[in-house]
Amino acid sequence: MTEIAKLTVEEAKAEHERLAKIIRDHDEAYYAEDAPVISDAEYDALRKDLLAIEARFPELITEESPSQNVGIAPSKGFRKVKHRVPMLSLDNAFDNEELREFEGRVRRFLGLAPTEEVAFFAEPKIDGLSASLRYDKGKFVQGATRGDGQEGEDITANLRGVTDLPLTLKGEKASPPDVFEIRGEVYMSKSDFLALNAAQSDSGGKIFANPRNAAAGSLRQLDASITASRKLRFFAYAWGEAAELPGASQSEVLAAFSDWGFTVNPLSKVCVNMEEAIDAYRKIEELRASLDYDIDGVVFKVNRLDWQERLGFVSRSPRWAIAHKFPAERASTVIEDIEIQVGRTGALTPVARLHPVTVGGVVVSNATLHNEDEILRKDIRIGDTVIVQRAGDVIPQVVEVVLDKRPEGSTPYVFPDHCPVCGSHAVKELNETTGKEDAVRRCTGGLICRAQAVERLKHFVSRNAFDIEGLGTKLIEAFYEDGLIRAPADIFTLEKRDSAPGNLTRIKNREGFGEKATQNLFDAINERREITLDRFIYALGVRHIGQGNARLLARSYLTLDALRSSLGATGEAGGAAYADLLEIDGIGPAVADAITEFFREELNQQLLDDLLSEITVTDFTRPAEDSSVAGKTVVFTGTLELMTRQEMKAKAEGLGAKVSGSISAKTDYLVAGANAGSKLKKASELGVTVLNEQEWLDLIGGG
Ligand code: IVH
Repeated sequence: MTEIAKLTVEEAKAEHERLAKIIRDHDEAYYAEDAPVISDAEYDALRKDLLAIEARFPELITEESPSQNVGIAPSKGFRKVKHRVPMLSLDNAFDNEELREFEGRVRRFLGLAPTEEVAFFAEPKIDGLSASLRYDKGKFVQGATRGDGQEGEDITANLRGVTDLPLTLKGEKASPPDVFEIRGEVYMSKSDFLALNAAQSDSGGKIFANPRNAAAGSLRQLDASITASRKLRFFAYAWGEAAELPGASQSEVLAAFSDWGFTVNPLSKVCVNMEEAIDAYRKIEELRASLDYDIDGVVFKVNRLDWQERLGFVSRSPRWAIAHKFPAERASTVIEDIEIQVGRTGALTPVARLHPVTVGGVVVSNATLHNEDEILRKDIRIGDTVIVQRAGDVIPQVVEVVLDKRPEGSTPYVFPDHCPVCGSHAVKELNETTGKEDAVRRCTGGLICRAQAVERLKHFVSRNAFDIEGLGTKLIEAFYEDGLIRAPADIFTLEKRDSAPGNLTRIKNREGFGEKATQNLFDAINERREITLDRFIYALGVRHIGQGNARLLARSYLTLDALRSSLGATGEAGGAAYADLLEIDGIGPAVADAITEFFREELNQQLLDDLLSEITVTDFTRPAEDSSVAGKTVVFTGTLELMTRQEMKAKAEGLGAKVSGSISAKTDYLVAGANAGSKLKKASELGVTVLNEQEWLDLIGGG
């Protein structure tokens, strides 16, 4: 954390990109493959770092940042369901202090008087899978997974077999509204989990790591009768689209859920203030081990729904709720080796191979050590006994070295200064603006480095880039090894070369292939001969160019020709094309350097030419903007009386407006409250439209 406070803009950008990538990979492992590779605690720590960077450098927040998304898109096999109300996630607090800060934020946002108490509804955080259940006139009509929060999978048939899921709603006190989406957690009890694993073991079936994975695996069965045989349960704790709400507080609505026939967790309770909520956390934590289901923390929700409504959401999570996770579990083990992995941009990432150890019921055998500085800082050595930590799921982080157990004659780990894959020099680049060294050491081999070349190809075909189904990481490695695919264009000439007369090494003759699989692969490749500009830029895998920056570039250049001709010839730092780049809101020098460097490189121009003789890149089209203030820049000044400034700002941003702190010729509106001063004067000088609070609320159609 302290380190983030010291980062320069450049470093922050690089670190942000690195974290975002790691988080996305883990999201994929967790949500798409039900096979997490790091612990929840480590995952949360990554997210926390990312958010801390974004808090300091808001310009790094792009639509594609993991902070703006929850989980990942649905996998194949189930029909997709668009959530009418997004399914969001929760912010985390790590200690009581952060819970009090949460209360402080709520109070400030709502502008509450110090004498006013905020009641919280405390609920155990169930370690399962969230689901949304749609009821039409009291009948269960559709059920979906969370997916990426916007779109999930239709698992209606599977959900019908879940215990505690009423197919028809009761309603002894009041009948349920016509349309109502119930949300909650599908889980498996610990005893059912143990029984399932015992049965699986007898029949030679799959053994699950924990109840959550067992629930996920059971719910994702294409054969719903298997799901039904697995004893899944459901706790209701939230809602989506609702024709009408059966209460004015969280507790009242959940009481109605019980009345309709759902199970609401019996440990949930209203706490009159934060101190009582903190006490509820302690009590639930004490009960944790005795419960027959896994919980991984306690969720606190502002009880009053009118306040929830006003607080609204910030990116992926509501402002009115927070989760306090239980502390992670720890164990000690020995580092048997440190291996260095080389990534797409040449970054050398150290990975600790651990003597396998069971932490909280899961065997772990490796952990990322992040980078060279991290190893230095903790003085981690091969042979060291270390404390590793994990929470809910799988792999741990190295917390500290147990110095007492350090073997005699041990020497500090020497980070390689050559790439372990291609032997090129591996260097820490000097940051031109700060004059400081990068934390990450990089291989200078570029495309001559097999690791970089292969990683770039993997990136090129990955889901958010060319998205070539069936051409996964294993195949890219094998095809690279055999010289079938060495550059991106080779992917698109594969079929032609494969069917050339005289070719003796046909793909269909490879192990695991055959006519059909080979044809499927070629079809999948051919389906992707057309790509949008933003995806294409992202696919190139230029350092610092994630999806967000790729979209920014596409939006501003519109065509690949424009981008190439602008950057190809004159793209030097200091040149006009370079200055244009920096004009793009959100593009800083690190990105500008990386992209100009890429386009100036002869080899890359060749790579593009080769590729463009095989594929078509379509021009970028701007998405339709629907709100009256989308894309407009607004400044708030003076004392606002109808809402707190924070609430005003959040509302405006939610509608796609940009909120700025200062007036310029680019400002569209100045919203002036009482006693507005110099900004009002400047706005009138510049001819900026000035509105009072009410006029602004009328303009945005709310308030
Ligand atoms: S409320 C808009 N309450 O935790 C708020 N979530 O980290 C939505 N979860 O996606 C969530 N128990 O899968 C809420 N009592 C509870 C919960 C709970 C478990 C899960 C849920 C959510 C995730 C967020």
